[in-house]
Amino acid sequence: MCGIVGVVSAKGKDIVGDLLTGLKRLEYRGYDSAGIAVITNSGAIDTRKAKGKISCLEEKLKAEPAKSNIGIAHTRWATHGEPNEINAHPQFSELVAVVHNGIIENYAALKAELADRYVFKSQTDTEVITAVITVNLKEGMSPKAAVSSALKRLKGAFAIEVLFADHPDFLICARKGAPLAIGHGKGEMYVGSDSLALCPFTNKITYLEDGDWAIITKDKAEIFTADDKPVTRKITTSTTDKNSVNKGFFDHYMQKEIFEQPKVITDTFANFKKAVKGLPSDLKSVSRISIIACGTSYHAGLIAKYWLEDLARVPTDVDFASEFRYRSPVIADDTLAILISQSGETADTLAALRYFKEQKVKTLAIVNVTESTIAREADFMINTLAGPEIAVASTKAFTSQLILLAALTLKMARERDAISAQKAEEIEQKIADLPKVMQDFLSTSGYIKEIAKDKVLGAQSALFIGRGTSYPIALEGALKLKEISYIHAEGYAAGEMKHGPIALVDNGLPIIVIAPFDKYFEKTLSNMQETMARGGEVIFISSAKGVETKVVKDFAKAVITMPEIDDFLSPLLYALPLQLLAYNTSLLRGFDMDQPRNLAKSVTVE
Ligand code: AGP
Repeated sequence: MCGIVGVVSAKGKDIVGDLLTGLKRLEYRGYDSAGIAVITNSGAIDTRKAKGKISCLEEKLKAEPAKSNIGIAHTRWATHGEPNEINAHPQFSELVAVVHNGIIENYAALKAELADRYVFKSQTDTEVITAVITVNLKEGMSPKAAVSSALKRLKGAFAIEVLFADHPDFLICARKGAPLAIGHGKGEMYVGSDSLALCPFTNKITYLEDGDWAIITKDKAEIFTADDKPVTRKITTSTTDKNSVNKGFFDHYMQKEIFEQPKVITDTFANFKKAVKGLPSDLKSVSRISIIACGTSYHAGLIAKYWLEDLARVPTDVDFASEFRYRSPVIADDTLAILISQSGETADTLAALRYFKEQKVKTLAIVNVTESTIAREADFMINTLAGPEIAVASTKAFTSQLILLAALTLKMARERDAISAQKAEEIEQKIADLPKVMQDFLSTSGYIKEIAKDKVLGAQSALFIGRGTSYPIALEGALKLKEISYIHAEGYAAGEMKHGPIALVDNGLPIIVIAPFDKYFEKTLSNMQETMARGGEVIFISSAKGVETKVVKDFAKAVITMPEIDDFLSPLLYALPLQLLAYNTSLLRGFDMDQPRNLAKSVTVE
């Protein structure tokens, strides 16, 4: 997902450094090129762009400095056109410069229409925005009219900023389907993709609503709705701590965020009693739950399904957001839709939320970013307290989603008299004890690096298997490994191995077996033996009781011993060794696990 930043300050103030500071706060979103545009003293547009990291852009600026009181900047996650300097943003003409996060779906038609009036240089969809505004200006429109008219022609999702030659005193920004925030400073104003980009400068933030656009001068934001009516949007005080974006004593954000999980679980659960005010009051009348999410958040939803049906006896469906609304789902009356999203900006999940709202279905968002679009548009919202999750691979957000879903399950089970108060209190006490159990495991987990080195590092592929709630954990472990070490990995229900996947097993294939000592243990052991009989190299993850089993002692190639944990809570604990296995494998392969290739922290395009 791209990141955009803009600054308007007083004449004489140089804001190029601020543009770079804002961009660096957006690096976590994933990108492959970066650029800035400013207005020079003579009123001309001046750009610097570079393929690769922001440091490449800084090299360019060192060689050829730029200086201005107004500018826009961009980190690009390529959608249309390879990562290179031409396709990097800003996309500019002699009259305007544009940075854009999103996708213009009708760009081909617009490009064809303007081909004889504008010379296109790039392969990007974004350049059509530059072209439409440039042509409007050449036809005599004012900058405000040129942008207002252009916005009505764009289809798709966008958050944009536009700079105008000979106008060093304002920029225009707009959002539709992708987030955009305005920062209120002292004698200067800022625009950014999220509060993280703006927190170095201010915590006074205005979030534009979908369709809004705004004229930003150094003193104020003049905001308009999609039909050009002036509108006021509230100024909030962001809670994003500018110090939260640092690695502390850790080598990588992912490592830091893995080790933050005991505290995150504590904070999120402690907050649940307060957060529960964000829940619909009549949980008893809910006939069915429909959970929609993507990626790791989807895996959290799969685990919640087991919990909600087992304890609260509520029929629960879980769908990938990108599939859900296209399959013409049958939605029962009194369904509660739960949208799970760390970023709160995932386009597919947001589209599903809007689909439910069109169907008049009650929507509950479980998000980590309370100022996000999904949080703001859902009927109800409860938030995880994971703090900003910078690493692209989700870890602390995942376990904090699980703790909220566990607490929601208990609340629903109690309200529906599906479990006794005593049973609920017993589980709540185990949740309260969980952070220490996680901490104890993490503090003695250093040996996992050796297992990664000896058993996974050289693998071409890996299988993760588990039963019950260990099956979604197997999916999550496979996702972690593939997304940061680029080793192909699959998660499977252990009982499914015989129905095809066991054909994959041959000598040396790593099989990561997630086997808490629960009601599935014996069956999982049999599935494990079936793979070992065919040359699979088992990494066995279980409690002391489990790893002491004879067949494990005799044949497993490696074991990871977990603390004893209540079956209900095992997914939260057993996620940890898988996160560490993936982290260490990526580290040993020399990859940048915080910003893996091809990935973005939040996918704001469908
Ligand atoms: C998780 O490690 C991935 N980075 C990815 O699958 C992520 O969970 C997914 O894109 C959903 O993001 P969201 O939770 O912000 O909606």
